[in-house]
Amino acid sequence: MLPINLISEVLPTYASKPRPVLILNAARLKFLLLETATLNRATHRPRTGPEMATWAVELAKCGLEQGREFALPSWYIKAAVQGTLSQLPNPQRYNRWFQDHVAKSLRLTDTYFLTKFQQCERHLEYYGRHNSSEPLRPSVALELGTGWFPIIPIGLALSGVETVYSVDIQSLLSRETVRVTLEMYAKAQARGQVTVLRADAPERIKTVLRMGERASEKDLLAHLGIVLLIADARHLSLDTGSIDLICSNNTLGHIPRAVIVEILRQFHRIVTERGIMSHHIDLADQYAKFDRGITVYNFLKFSDPVWKIFNNDLQYQNRLRLPDFRELHAEAGFEILQESNRSQPLKVLKQVTLASRFERYKAEELAVHDRSAPVFAGFAGA
Ligand SMILES: C[S@@+](CC[C@H](N)C(=O)[O-])C[C@H]1O[C@@H](n2cnc3c(N)ncnc32)[C@H](O)[C@@H]1O
Repeated sequence: MLPINLISEVLPTYASKPRPVLILNAARLKFLLLETATLNRATHRPRTGPEMATWAVELAKCGLEQGREFALPSWYIKAAVQGTLSQLPNPQRYNRWFQDHVAKSLRLTDTYFLTKFQQCERHLEYYGRHNSSEPLRPSVALELGTGWFPIIPIGLALSGVETVYSVDIQSLLSRETVRVTLEMYAKAQARGQVTVLRADAPERIKTVLRMGERASEKDLLAHLGIVLLIADARHLSLDTGSIDLICSNNTLGHIPRAVIVEILRQFHRIVTERGIMSHHIDLADQYAKFDRGITVYNFLKFSDPVWKIFNNDLQYQNRLRLPDFRELHAEAGFEILQESNRSQPLKVLKQVTLASRFERYKAEELAVHDRSAPVFAGFAGA
């Protein structure tokens, strides 16, 4: 939301007034937010009368009546900042700086590390449980969506997976984040918190950490058998039937539905005949992590056009629900063998007035906000 070109169109109108242009100023944001809603995103021109009428209805449904004073909830700020950053060239660079220096959310804490490691353990546990053939460990694994810290690929490699492909459409890793992750593993293993690792893990970590300054993040990981693939997962050059375990973590909720369809088709091609997929999907409104005043179901109250204002490419949220993911897996030819879903009490969901597009779901299904042990899909054959 608030693309730069819109802001630049909106601001000159008010330049004569003594209003400092601080996008972090909540009052200005509220103003810009409403102003943006009055412009047609395609033409960047003021909306026509009928368009405005539709918008007014949509905004009113969300408690954003034009001209009415309302306190700006702080998640709007997050939405506005991310929306603005996403319009800049190389937005992740700015996002990284912002998260590191302002939000202070780019630190690898013990809690975050251990939560992620548990996801890694679960993928391996489910592989062992549902894969009828020996050995219990996959030889080749693939993770979709590497992100900032390579916790899952390193965990898989140190647990005995020989080759791990970690696929991301963009490169977010650095030498430093790989080093920090390896140090975390060393510390956690010394404390007995990551028992699934093989006994030689400390030695392997030490060897990699001793590699010189000139070794890139790619080189460091390659030493552990991890191949970083910067690629769109819809188009992978991996051999057909070559991957034993495919997993993802907090990723499938952030990719548009049409793209997921193609990715799952690709996964169906590359997974081995007895292969397993295990996905940890976060279906919660991500703004609820930032703003304690809203629940994980908050985004279900917005119609698609209004949600487009708040959604952004930096942290895209597809708002797909449990039945959608079941459907997507079935359509791609995967059989779901196990699910482990987490919900908040239904009374929390009921606080939200649902946008009409979510009314077709059963409340119990809609309430699932985290597939904490993953959506778990086994390959059902060709
Ligand atoms: C929310 S991050 C998850 C990062 C990490 N797995 C974690 O748990 O912290 C989602 C990642 O998926 C990547 N991604 C999105 N679309 C993709 C695609 N079509 N192919 C490969 N990676 C993609 C993004 O670049 C992003 O790094």
